[in-house]
Amino acid sequence: EKGGWPSFMAKEVSEEPEAVANTIRGRVHPGAEGGEVVIPELDGLDELFVGIRHIIVIACGTAAYAGQTGAYAIEQWTRIPVSVELAHEFRYRDPVIGDDTLVVSISQSGETMDTLMAVKYAHEKGAKTLSICNTQGATIPRESDAVIYTHAGPEVAVASTKAFVAQITALYLLALHVGRVRGVLSAAESADHVRELEAIPAKIQRVLDEEQAHIEQFSHWMADTQSVLFLGRHVGYPVALEGALKLKEISYIHAEGFAAGELKHGPIALIEPGQPVFVIVPSPRESAELHKKVVSNIQEIRARGARVIVVAEEGDAAVLPFADEVLRIPLAGPFFEPLLAVVPLHIFAMGLANAKGLDVDQPRNLAKSVTVE
Ligand code: F6R
Repeated sequence: EKGGWPSFMAKEVSEEPEAVANTIRGRVHPGAEGGEVVIPELDGLDELFVGIRHIIVIACGTAAYAGQTGAYAIEQWTRIPVSVELAHEFRYRDPVIGDDTLVVSISQSGETMDTLMAVKYAHEKGAKTLSICNTQGATIPRESDAVIYTHAGPEVAVASTKAFVAQITALYLLALHVGRVRGVLSAAESADHVRELEAIPAKIQRVLDEEQAHIEQFSHWMADTQSVLFLGRHVGYPVALEGALKLKEISYIHAEGFAAGELKHGPIALIEPGQPVFVIVPSPRESAELHKKVVSNIQEIRARGARVIVVAEEGDAAVLPFADEVLRIPLAGPFFEPLLAVVPLHIFAMGLANAKGLDVDQPRNLAKSVTVE
């Protein structure tokens, strides 16, 4: 079943390109400008999308980080305020929701009890519920008003990888569709974003082909590392959180993700000589200002002896003087970088766990689907 791969996780990381491609397939129509998102499952819901005033995304773990990533694009492309909440926190604070709220749940398994209970709660409060799910006919989509299935294929390894990129893809498709229905995006703008999205699978494949051996190599000499930090900003922030979660889960190494801007408000105190820090660097073409700020964060931690591993766009030379390792990702549009930047982090977590001789598919204390609250 592993098809020659050493683990399900290795197989599933290698399937990240097709997880994105299969989630897009059949949902893009030529349209006037060459790319309109039409999601057959959402037929008849246009009126609902026009009427909503608030979107709340609920999920747990990696699915919540996918939600946090997707929220930037949803807000930008639909101009509907979006908040993202951990499902298990959501229903214990009497949230302000009603029939103009769309609650979007995200779950690979579709069986996560925390997420299911939050969906039921939202439903009781009169909100509309839409689920993004990787498992046909699972409980969460059955309890929701609508569903968009991710087509990542079955995910067997406990740590979620290909489902993450598929979830972000589904959120972008939703955002583009709703943005068009509400008249926020022009046909031409939507088509541009669709083209960017359609180019992602081949770009992920390039990251796998070009960086895998390099990452596995340095993850080996990091096998006795005690702690790894991850920094990111804007859409790079949830990617940092995901990189840290994956490392904790499968390599049992302490890891934290931080918003890069938060560094001087506390976390910089953790930096001592030799501390490995991954930094997700924003594109200098897409956001020169954020890029400059993150490069200055890199200088600050480097000056305190951090071992800096940057994930940066091809051609970004500004990071070179301050980086111990540079992991390159292809150029992508403003919201699309996470789909590429997360790939080296998945490979790294797996490489480090392998270097420690751990079972990457079955990490201790964890189950694939958490069906208790
Ligand atoms: C992380 C991981 C978990 C799940 C979380 C939600 O690698 O696998 O954090 O993402 O338990 O699971 P689903 O998506 O099935 O609701």
